[in-house]
Amino acid sequence: MSTLIKKSLKKENPIWLMRQAGRYLPEYQKVRKKQKDFIKFCLNIKAATKVTLQPIKRYDFDAAIIFSDILIIPYGIGQEVKFEESIGPILGKPNLKLYQQTKKGKFIKKIENVYKIIKNTRKKLSKDKSLIGFVGSPWTILVYVLNQKSPKEISVCKKIIKNKKSKQLLKIIEKFIYIHIEQQIKAGVDTIQLFDSWAGLLNKKDLNYFCFQPTKRIIIKVRKKYPHIPIICFPKGIKTSIKKFCKIVKPNVLSIDSKMNPNFVLKEIDPNIIIQGGMSPGFLFKRKSEMQNKIKFYLNKFKNRAYIFNLGHGVPKETKTNTIQNLVNTVRNFK
Ligand code: CP3
Repeated sequence: MSTLIKKSLKKENPIWLMRQAGRYLPEYQKVRKKQKDFIKFCLNIKAATKVTLQPIKRYDFDAAIIFSDILIIPYGIGQEVKFEESIGPILGKPNLKLYQQTKKGKFIKKIENVYKIIKNTRKKLSKDKSLIGFVGSPWTILVYVLNQKSPKEISVCKKIIKNKKSKQLLKIIEKFIYIHIEQQIKAGVDTIQLFDSWAGLLNKKDLNYFCFQPTKRIIIKVRKKYPHIPIICFPKGIKTSIKKFCKIVKPNVLSIDSKMNPNFVLKEIDPNIIIQGGMSPGFLFKRKSEMQNKIKFYLNKFKNRAYIFNLGHGVPKETKTNTIQNLVNTVRNFK
């Protein structure tokens, strides 16, 4: 079983952070400077293995998350994916035919280095550390495929739902997400996180079709074949709909964003579901004592439940490395 889950069940408050391998680390910047093309960087076995392990070396986190990106799936299918400095991801025109015609074997071959990176990382990572694989959720991937960049306003959501191709694309994306999860498990990850970064764009009526049901189908399929692999869900921004999400989707771990009220979570979420995260990354920029108080607030709130310390979203690039060291020390010294 995943050591991350074991430690959380033993109430040891394990810790890892979303975007722990990233631009706030000077050792990451050093590798990044030589890797001009971000997708090529994600597929470079030596470089990606190295940056996956950097935060473990520096902070002794309980889990490594494989250095990759959720947009490796559209890339694997053959849609163009580029990353522009200070803009973010930019995708080529979506082509339904391409999505319909791309074969499993071709997709796997195109991104096979991700699986080699997992194998390589597992060899180098000590046994008591978890290795987390990840995917974007069907809805979040669909948003990028059709919008071709990060959505800047809520109106994007309406356009996507109205698009004649969206339901067909959603189904195909769901299929490739499953394939990518399965290949990551075969390569050696012991935990899977599903990032649904844009779930919060959906209204209550559309959440079921575009978020709950496809996520549920994927989880059922993974669990049937790989019952020992825990699944972490991060449906960002869905507020109190989280209750319905958990009832329908049944994740092993629920990762909460900073807008989620911990009391609501304690009261309404099945106690068998492990809770992860919550603290706003904004506290990384407050006074030391203020940040420490917030860390202890979350640890105290969830002290009677299995809890994994994490943030409510990724580590911002402006974060000081010392601040993260402080955060780790505070979690480790908590009694
Ligand atoms: O350390 C880790 O968490 C593992 C690696 C990881 C990356 N992206 C690397 C990355 C993970 C888990 C992701 C997930 C991801 N990618 C999400 C879901 C989580 C979230 O943030 O909501 C999303 C929406 C993406 C798509 C994406 N990738 C965007 C919007 C951007 C640009 C925004 C930004 O922060 O610059 C990326 C680029 C990206 N992915 C970087 C990293 C380290 C920064 C690239 C760089 O070095 O220039």
